[in-house]
Amino acid sequence: MTIRAIPQGWVLETRTTGYALGVNDAGRLSHRYWGVRLPYLEDYPLAANPAGWASFNGPTHLTPEEYPAYGGISYIDPCLKVTFADGVRDLVLQIDPAQQASFSQTELTIHLCDTYYPLLVTLHYRVHAEYDLIERWVTLHNLSEQNITVERVLSAQWHLPGHEKYHLTHVNGRWLDEFHLLREPLVQGIKVLESRRLTTSHHHNPWFTLDRNTADEQRGEVWFGVLAWSGNWRISAEVTEFASTRVNIGLNDWDFAWNLAAKQSFTTPSSYAGYTDEGFGGASRRLHDFVRTTVVPNPHLTHKVLYNSWEATLFDVNEHAQLELARLAAEMGVELFVMDDGWFHGRTLDNAGLGDWWPDKQKFPQGLTPLIQGVNALGMDFGLWLEPEMVNPDSDLYRAHPDWVLHFPTRARTEGRNQLILNIARPDVQDYLISLIDRLLSEHTITFIKWDMNRNVSEPGWPEAEGEPREIWVRYVQGLYHIWHTLRTRHPGVIWQSCSGGGGRADFGILREADQIWVSDNTEATARLAIQEGFSHIFPPSTMEAWVTDASEHLISLEFRFHVSMCGVLGIGGHLLRWSERERAEAKRLIAQYKEIRSTIQSGDLYRLRSPQHHPFSAIQYVSKDRSEAVLFAFRTYIPDPVELPPLYLCGLDPDARYRIDGVDDVRSGQAWMHAGLRVGLNNFQSSLLRVWRV
Ligand code: DGJ
Repeated sequence: MTIRAIPQGWVLETRTTGYALGVNDAGRLSHRYWGVRLPYLEDYPLAANPAGWASFNGPTHLTPEEYPAYGGISYIDPCLKVTFADGVRDLVLQIDPAQQASFSQTELTIHLCDTYYPLLVTLHYRVHAEYDLIERWVTLHNLSEQNITVERVLSAQWHLPGHEKYHLTHVNGRWLDEFHLLREPLVQGIKVLESRRLTTSHHHNPWFTLDRNTADEQRGEVWFGVLAWSGNWRISAEVTEFASTRVNIGLNDWDFAWNLAAKQSFTTPSSYAGYTDEGFGGASRRLHDFVRTTVVPNPHLTHKVLYNSWEATLFDVNEHAQLELARLAAEMGVELFVMDDGWFHGRTLDNAGLGDWWPDKQKFPQGLTPLIQGVNALGMDFGLWLEPEMVNPDSDLYRAHPDWVLHFPTRARTEGRNQLILNIARPDVQDYLISLIDRLLSEHTITFIKWDMNRNVSEPGWPEAEGEPREIWVRYVQGLYHIWHTLRTRHPGVIWQSCSGGGGRADFGILREADQIWVSDNTEATARLAIQEGFSHIFPPSTMEAWVTDASEHLISLEFRFHVSMCGVLGIGGHLLRWSERERAEAKRLIAQYKEIRSTIQSGDLYRLRSPQHHPFSAIQYVSKDRSEAVLFAFRTYIPDPVELPPLYLCGLDPDARYRIDGVDDVRSGQAWMHAGLRVGLNNFQSSLLRVWRV
């Protein structure tokens, strides 16, 4: 499991996979192999030397280049496109004769340079062997004395074995309805997924999975990848006329340009990709383990059961009402009480206050401290909602700094939810937000922040900026990371949640700063089952905040709603003052049960047994890493009776060990539960939580 040099190239090996690249006879850095790890180094194929196809398709067009640039006689969707100061828009990259590629156990660095212009393109590879993942990113260095305009710079092109037909699986959706899985055949041409909204977006996610239409949840070869970026992104899956399939992934080049000034560098975000023959489940378990151990700021954190006031009180928050909720929450076993929107200066509705991040005097005459102390006295931590990137025109901040928002001077400023977007690419805006939030966190005992972002971009202008205005897309996200990272470094005890009207900013980039994600504003339990399933293909349950609310309370039992939310990080968001004593007692029992099983849910292996997006009878299972216990949730929504529900075939157990299951008399081998199955009887809109123990 390492990186090794082979004739004309390198092999990157992980626990079960191999990835080979090398230089072909024409001097082009070419992809050679990606798939199951091969026993011997000489097993890896040599770089191809295609001859070309008539005068219309030159050899370069047929070469599987690792990082194709726009230039020459190649029409592959390129990774890199630039314009040099003299107007030349053609790149000819070759291995840099002046700088040797270098590699260690885990990192490989290859330098390409243009044959005429002093532009250096450094390709970085990092092996995350245990997770079967390879990380790629790119740095451009302008070694010349003149500007270079970069019009596209992607993180990677991932190549699949050629001459095969693939299906692309991705997620799509919209606000209140995110993460729907879609699997479609790729045909000759280019399939593009993207965000042009400044954030990752509710509509698509920078994640792809490809298979030969032979994989399922448990088995089959899949190639998968993500981009760690929280702004505009683009994935293009291309099938060429020569049956070569490649996936480009990186910053979206739509309305993008970067002025790479003399002697300056530019680094792309990372793309992580992997291969497994363990189906879609195997792919997501690798991503889950990687996120939990390597991406999130607090690896292996046990996430607390929280209460959030939003759906109960909306903007109508005050000390007394929040404490009333807090008392009930504490009695039920909640560990973290989060006050949502409505607490800050001038905020009574969504038309005022954003930007003025100090407590509203009318609602909190003594500030937040009495409430926080009250919550702490009840034995809970205190958390707070913020939407730092936004400003209402009706705010002190906007009145003082109307120029601080994204805008074009000749255009009306389009509001979304009565708010405008602060231009956090500006260092003065960054400093302002850092100092205000730093003060808030320094003066109060706040251990959790929900960072929200409730609209998408319009008029992406920065009139005062010198230079290339289309850099804004990247500079905004860099500003976001800078603010967030500075705050979390200054306040390491704070846990952060990423929210953008639900799941509008869920990606591996934000997970370097945020410990968890608010998956959707849709908290209706049956809708949530589907949304959570899509989310689980990319992100681990430990990042999936899920509240029990009052949505569909007359149709869906409290237990069903709890079971759905227990599939991730359990939270409560219902109006507790309206819950009966019996409901609160039931909630207390279920919260206590969640605490017993949460380590398996949050850090175990997740198996999707039956998809809620495809079946009204669905099931999901979590297995502890040592396979000594498991948790099984089964859900039935509506199926006309009479019906015989199919058996559930458990997964991930030790085949030779014996296991018992809650409420089931038989003790059977793991092999039997996995292959003979388990019958779970459920009526419509009933759910079941079963614990499985090795005996
Ligand atoms: C959108 C979030 O997703 C909700 O949970 C809530 O925090 C509101 N914003 C508050 O304005």
